[in-house]
Amino acid sequence: MTVSDNAFRDDVLAGLSAPIRAVPARWLYDRRGSELFERITQLPEYYPTRTETALLTAIVGEVAAIVGAGEAVVEFGSGSSAKTPILLDAVAPSAYVPIDISGDFLRLSAAGLKRQFPTLPILPVEADFMRPIVLPEQVRGAHKLGFFPGSTIGNMVARTAVDLLRAMKDTLGSGSWLLIGMDRIKDVATLIAAYDDSEGVTAEFNLNLLHRINRELDGTIDISAFRHRAIWRDSHARIEMHLEAVRDTSFTVAGRAFAMRAGETIHTENSHKYGHRDARLLLLAAGWGVVREWTDPDDKFAILLAEAEAPRFAP
Ligand code: AVI
Repeated sequence: MTVSDNAFRDDVLAGLSAPIRAVPARWLYDRRGSELFERITQLPEYYPTRTETALLTAIVGEVAAIVGAGEAVVEFGSGSSAKTPILLDAVAPSAYVPIDISGDFLRLSAAGLKRQFPTLPILPVEADFMRPIVLPEQVRGAHKLGFFPGSTIGNMVARTAVDLLRAMKDTLGSGSWLLIGMDRIKDVATLIAAYDDSEGVTAEFNLNLLHRINRELDGTIDISAFRHRAIWRDSHARIEMHLEAVRDTSFTVAGRAFAMRAGETIHTENSHKYGHRDARLLLLAAGWGVVREWTDPDDKFAILLAEAEAPRFAP
């Protein structure tokens, strides 16, 4: 058993034993989960990817005018890097540093970008960006532009999001920039449709976690005893994904026995949404001052450019 198998098992066993059952969302992304997420991004109801890509295309010229040429672009959780060429094309960077926990994804997308930008130094870093990162020697002295698209920040509770944004500031250094995508609060029907689509792809994505537990942790979960639920939690401004037991059910995972009553859920993901001030406050809490903010015409999605603030005395 590898370290990550142990981490998965430990998280699942602890999460299923907790008074409010929950499994960290990162375990949704095995190979199948990542494929399903790619399909989600193309669904008609899932507006964030489409909206952010169009917005980014419209504003990169302005971003380039503010940050200037020659930045080292550092992308956090680059994944398949679909939005990256739009940014790289516009800002004339000195280097590109994609950071991702999945080495496979990283190598694949770095190779693709190398073909598109043959003269650009591409320096992939295989790492968990939730932890402090040592950047490659070649960019240590360079001025940096962090890139964190997709509203992935929304998958973290505020405390964790601030920790991450602060860690990014430490990684990038003083005077650096951060270009970040943040999904907006909007009408509940649009939000629910985006996380409970008519084709059932998001349901499959969520239920895949149970398949993964059965496969990797010797689970005996009857998948038909669960259904996908997407709930708007107004008090926390977030969509929550849950797996709800549709009848009383019992099962074992890694030899441990669990029982759930009909209606009980396993909480599997949060996706926070942000108003204009919320987004600024979250960034400010981590030492990032917002320089510009752009939204699409329907105010569905925002992209913010922030600058690392120098520490100063405050009253
Ligand atoms: C990766 N992340 C930004 C997605 C989101 O919208 O929160 C994950 C997702 N979960 C269900 N649909 C999409």
